Amino acid sequence: MRAILLGGHGMLGHDIASELRGSDVVTPSASELDVRDLGALRRECRRVRPDFLISTVAFHRVDDSESQPDAAFTMNAVATRNLATAAHDAGATLVWVSTDYLFDGGNTEPYQVDDRPLPLQVYGVSKLAGEHVIRLTTADHLIVRTSGLYGLHRPVVQRVNFADKVLRHARMGRSRISVPADQVCTPTYTRDLAEVIVRLMQSGERGTFHATNSGECSWAEFAEAVLEMIDASTKVERTTAKEYPMVARRPAYSVLSLDALAKVGVPQPRPWREALRDFLAARVSAGAGPV
Ligand SMILES: NC(=O)c1ccc[n+]([C@@H]2O[C@H](COP(=O)([O-])OP(=O)(O)OC[C@H]3O[C@@H](n4cnc5c(N)ncnc54)[C@H](OP(=O)(O)O)[C@@H]3O)[C@@H](O)[C@H]2O)c1
Repeated sequence: MRAILLGGHGMLGHDIASELRGSDVVTPSASELDVRDLGALRRECRRVRPDFLISTVAFHRVDDSESQPDAAFTMNAVATRNLATAAHDAGATLVWVSTDYLFDGGNTEPYQVDDRPLPLQVYGVSKLAGEHVIRLTTADHLIVRTSGLYGLHRPVVQRVNFADKVLRHARMGRSRISVPADQVCTPTYTRDLAEVIVRLMQSGERGTFHATNSGECSWAEFAEAVLEMIDASTKVERTTAKEYPMVARRPAYSVLSLDALAKVGVPQPRPWREALRDFLAARVSAGAGPV
């Protein structure tokens, strides 16, 4: 298998690159290949002749997207059209990562792949535009929606993922941290997500899928699990989203159903607690705690 992986030095991209070890994969950095440059994408596709064009690139600073909608749409919609066009012209499958923030949170049970998206913030609208643009441009695509990512490789844009933030507070000896208990999703370990994405690619699946760890929890529950697993004395003060100031609105419930994965025989990723335990063990054993 030959692939171009854009975002391969980011948090999720790094794990996808590891999962694809043994395949012929090029991972240009943003300065080597900018997704906003269709000509450069086409040239790279002509050079590599990939079977897959994979992108984890996004403008995903959810709060900043409210004040910088042009930047969010340029990256998440316009540049996504470049990716879809370049993939289509090269006869490659486009693999693209989307988000649970497409949904408004009104559900009380997990969102199915064909449930109606109704994003609450600019980021979600721009990612939804990206999905539409892909479907309009090339049938040969794999869109994988996910949620609440954390991983061992530091996210390039946000720098510290939520699990690492909690770890950092614990190591700083904070007695308590305030975390909303009224936003429920499925935090997902990027290693597990990378495995599913590569599995879908290898089994020749096309279309839209949800892929997260299994189960669900609030951010407060997740923070409590981190602290309990590392035996920290820091306590979680359960708050509400209203008390926790954020610029962009977030869905109260954005758990994604994994039924579509099951239908194509891809096993449901493990429960979020098991994944978190592995992540923490890897962080702690490396002695490389969070910043
Ligand atoms: N984080 C979450 O909780 C979450 C939740 C749901 C969905 N998602 C989606 O998951 C995907 C991956 O997120 P992540 O946290 O792994 O991202 P990340 O760590 O921030 O990585 C982003 C990557 O994009 C590259 N990049 C930035 N601008 C570029 C440009 N103009 N051209 C080419 N490459 C560019 C960066 O390259 P350099 O390393 O060279 O700078 C970096 O490797 C995104 O699509 C996001 O929307 C994330």
